[in-house]
Amino acid sequence: MDSVPEQYMIRGAGAEAIATDIEEAISAGALAPGAELPPIRELAAQLGVNANTAAAAYRLLRERGAVETAGRRGTRVRDRPATTPRSLRGLPVPAGVRDLSTGNPDPALLPIAAAQLPPAGSRRRRPLLYGEPAVSPELAEYARTSLTADDVPAEHLAVTAGALDGIERVLTAHLRPGDRVAVEDPGWANLLDLLAALGFSAEPMRVDDDGPLAADVARALRRGARAVVVTTRAQNPTGAAVSGARAKELRQLLADHVDVLLVEDDHCAGIAGVPLHTLAGTTRHWAFIRSAAKAYGPDLRLALLAGDRRTVERVHGRLRLGPGWISYLLQDLAVRLWRDKAASRLVHKAETVYTRNRELLHAALTDRGVTSRGRSGLNVWIPVPDETVAITRLLSAGWAAAPGTRFRIAAPPGVRITVSSVDADEIDPLADAVTEAIHAVGLGSV
Ligand SMILES: Cc1ncc(COP(=O)(O)O)c(C=O)c1O
Repeated sequence: MDSVPEQYMIRGAGAEAIATDIEEAISAGALAPGAELPPIRELAAQLGVNANTAAAAYRLLRERGAVETAGRRGTRVRDRPATTPRSLRGLPVPAGVRDLSTGNPDPALLPIAAAQLPPAGSRRRRPLLYGEPAVSPELAEYARTSLTADDVPAEHLAVTAGALDGIERVLTAHLRPGDRVAVEDPGWANLLDLLAALGFSAEPMRVDDDGPLAADVARALRRGARAVVVTTRAQNPTGAAVSGARAKELRQLLADHVDVLLVEDDHCAGIAGVPLHTLAGTTRHWAFIRSAAKAYGPDLRLALLAGDRRTVERVHGRLRLGPGWISYLLQDLAVRLWRDKAASRLVHKAETVYTRNRELLHAALTDRGVTSRGRSGLNVWIPVPDETVAITRLLSAGWAAAPGTRFRIAAPPGVRITVSSVDADEIDPLADAVTEAIHAVGLGSV
């Protein structure tokens, strides 16, 4: 949501000093997310510097993922600036309001809650030293079996610290700043923020319930996109899932663009509520990334990554020069959870509950004449005429939803409701509040 704050007086004489001053003002809250920065010429005149200096300061901030420039809308502080810690972001949810804005799974349905590390020395006779394979043999075996069963070629494997870490490593393995990356619109806010922080430009692809529209993928490729990132299912925020028919269409399209890097994000395996239709292996360079975070617990910072040999080798090479590998403590824990029957039952229960909640909310909204989307996963996306009005109305009725602005590039407005922990008896009051929030615009009452 855009908010124009009291005018903050930017200081500094050189580009770096100006950029640092603005970065600090963002951290201190003096420049809020969405705040407009003065036009370059105005800033230059105000500071008595050359316009090129002011432009260079904005460029530095853009490259750091702190601000965005959108044509005639000028330069603004990003919704979630990459220079600000997570804890400082977002609006606090007032006491007494039911928070359905987070995108989190239900903590009661996460196997990690009851998980225990294997007792020391129980399975491994000796501590792991430097020089061991980055992927534990047990995890590799599990990954090969489960990915192959889903038609994902799993000859070359890596393990990363979650999906986003994997996506970053794959993109930086092949692309350079300035390159275009095709992404779903609306799409995962963290991915959009990551692209900005890495200096890639986002090429939007619209999404329907069956995944990215083939025509938009084709357009992005025509416009020179070097990579395409597709959420296989539980697309965030719309709940889209790539259907069998769409997968076929996209495979055919990508077969004519084998030089494009294809990245698939399968972050909701186990709880998506729909089967996987993968595109893996269609292009020369590709990666399929399956995170454990949503089904097993966000703190299980681990994702399996399968890809072509070159991509996987580059990911390993670069990992080696950073964290080295993902700790076997975590890899062992993940294998244990994936193989554990009680954990699998809990994941299955979560899938059932999330599916039921999505369907109940969708049906209740349809009854009230309100359109909503959410074919898979734990979110429902509701197009609204005005996000600020809808969010404010919902808050005053006791519900916090996520504003669509942080997920959108060119897509029309909407709000996201996370249904993972909604009780059946909350569905009707929630649907009433949403309906009222949408119609409030027509009444001009906010
Ligand atoms: C589309 C998408 N991918 C992946 C993730 C999980 O990512 P990670 O494994 O990095 O925690 C999320 C979590 O919100 C998501 O929405």
